[in-house]
Amino acid sequence: MSAAPNVLLARDLARHYSVSRGLFKAPATVKALNGVSFALEAGRTLAVVGESGCGKSTLARALTLIEKPSAGHLHLDGIDIATASDAQLKQLRRRVQMVFQNPYASLNPRKRIEQMLDEPLLLNTGLSAAERREKRGAMLQQVGLRPEHAARYPHMFSGGQRQRIAIARAMMLEPKLLVADEPTSALDVSIQAQILNLFMDLQQQRGIAYVFISHNLSVVEHIADRVLVMYLGRVVESAPKSSLFTRALHPYTRALLSATPSTDAARRAIKIRITGELPSPLDPPPGCSFHRRCPHATERCKIEVPELRPLGGHEVACHHAETLAG
Ligand SMILES: Nc1ncnc2c1ncn2[C@@H]1O[C@H](COP(=O)(O)OP(=O)(O)O)[C@@H](O)[C@H]1O
Ligand SMILES: [Mg+2]
Repeated sequence: MSAAPNVLLARDLARHYSVSRGLFKAPATVKALNGVSFALEAGRTLAVVGESGCGKSTLARALTLIEKPSAGHLHLDGIDIATASDAQLKQLRRRVQMVFQNPYASLNPRKRIEQMLDEPLLLNTGLSAAERREKRGAMLQQVGLRPEHAARYPHMFSGGQRQRIAIARAMMLEPKLLVADEPTSALDVSIQAQILNLFMDLQQQRGIAYVFISHNLSVVEHIADRVLVMYLGRVVESAPKSSLFTRALHPYTRALLSATPSTDAARRAIKIRITGELPSPLDPPPGCSFHRRCPHATERCKIEVPELRPLGGHEVACHHAETLAG
């Protein structure tokens, strides 16, 4: 496992937005992503979880080169995006693809499925019309649709089928990394599991790496190899999946787990309720940004920002992690 090369390496990645606060006030800075570091090996799945507003989609846009980071380093497929040539960036855009949350918004209603699947091939490959048709048919079949579906428009499909189409489109150029931003959140619960299974099948067949984003820990329980928990633009904990689910160290991770239904007795035993709202990223609390909602917070937590550090096979950003580890 450790021999696999990294497809993704992020160091202190940040993305800040300047937002207006009205006519007579200076614009404020939202630190949507505030120094995030992690690595992802080829063919593996990193799940990114956290409440709405913690910076997950901002991270997805940075990883897929839709937006430039404000600071920090990002290496994709071994290439530093800060120093990459235009040709290298073009290559990378092929190798890194994205699937969005809402399959109703992400597919152009005026285009037939075959057109959508054809576009990336036309722009990026020299394949003949016959070869492209062959590839489209095979891809549709792989995502559980039929080749004759290619002539239809998006409105003729259900939400789950549309997400299958979006996944097929993202796979057309055989990417090395797929960033999926809440890809099942807009779907019926009964459909969610099918789409998750599809993601896992495609990974097995193609060795593709995933950054799989969700606000819901239970969604990532089966698909993830490693889980990264975010809070207000920062990583508060990251660990191999099984360890995160059984031995979470950060009070926020424990709180998220408490809110996730489980049959596991050890997990049910950890009960923490988060009180209060997610603070505004325009005015984050000093010290540990979780301290106002944390049952274990002390004076130190109000003043000193906890750094992400290794502990018991996890990485955790909490002053009291040792005590909590017990
Ligand atoms: N283009 C933008 N301009 C200003 N603020 C933004 C922009 N995009 C996101 N934000 C803010 O950044 C924070 C993180 O947003 P986002 O990455 O969408 O979180 P998530 O996907 O976890 O819900 C939020 O406070 C959001 O309002
Ligand atoms: Mg989002």
